[in-house]
Amino acid sequence: MTLIFRTIEEVRAWRHSLPANQTVGFVPTMGALHAGHISLMELAKARSGVALASIFVNPLQFGPGEDLARYPRPLEQDLSLLQAAGVDALFLPAVDELYPAGASTFVIEESVSGPLCGALRPGHFRGVTTVVLKLFNIVQPHIAVFGQKDAQQCAVIERMVRDLAVPVEIIRGPIIREADGLALSSRNVYLKPEERPAARLLFASLTAAKQAFEAGERNAARLTEIAEAMLQGQPGISLQYWDVRDARTLQPVAAAMPGETLFAVAAMVGTTRLIDNMTV
Ligand code: PAJ
Repeated sequence: MTLIFRTIEEVRAWRHSLPANQTVGFVPTMGALHAGHISLMELAKARSGVALASIFVNPLQFGPGEDLARYPRPLEQDLSLLQAAGVDALFLPAVDELYPAGASTFVIEESVSGPLCGALRPGHFRGVTTVVLKLFNIVQPHIAVFGQKDAQQCAVIERMVRDLAVPVEIIRGPIIREADGLALSSRNVYLKPEERPAARLLFASLTAAKQAFEAGERNAARLTEIAEAMLQGQPGISLQYWDVRDARTLQPVAAAMPGETLFAVAAMVGTTRLIDNMTV
């Protein structure tokens, strides 16, 4: 049985009832769960024995005009997926449980969160770091699992944990994809069937750059050109960025280095914002 807690107090009581030597794994989510989320739960479970997930559509990380109101919330379906994955407990707080009226304290990471999605979505990572640190303080996990799908989010959280000496080990889980390469995302439900071919191009552009890299191309500008050529002029897709970055700092690099470089892409497909990435 997956236990459901709606208040901070309930989570704390459960947490304190666990044996002191029990490792606790934590997977924060915004719900609308899919196989990508579940793969993280399985990692948490395998690494720790006890796994707690959270579902909280965090208003603080949505900008004006973004999809906060229409974000999918299929709670019954989420609960059966958590149950099937053997997740021990779910934290499902209401907005005013996490943000009491007049809450005025925020966590701001000022470097890794600057470029890419940080530049396009001002305040987004401030919302993420604030809620994640708060959830860590409530759950007090030993390990927390995040998906490489949001590579910049992983890097921002790793930096926060290092800078603030947060006693949580961060684990990255690999990107889970559809058979056609499209990275699973809660936002894929927004895609109309006729938008799927355009959505698939994100993965295709990353694959093209990776192939060029594997064939010896290291020049970041050239790799970007190869990838962008696959996206430019394609109907139904509007590119926001395609970039070659240092995988830890997210700073631009002139040359891709094996094991250290991230290819990252963001694009609008119709009204849906999609991101994807690949580490080489
Ligand atoms: P959400 O978008 O629900 O994602 C929850 C976790 O699932 C994140 O760590 C994300 O990277 C991971 N994930 C999403 N799609 C994935 C895929 N295809 N393969 C593997 N992992 C995937 O990210 C958030 O929520 C929020 O920002 C949150 C961290 C919960 C803070 O509010």
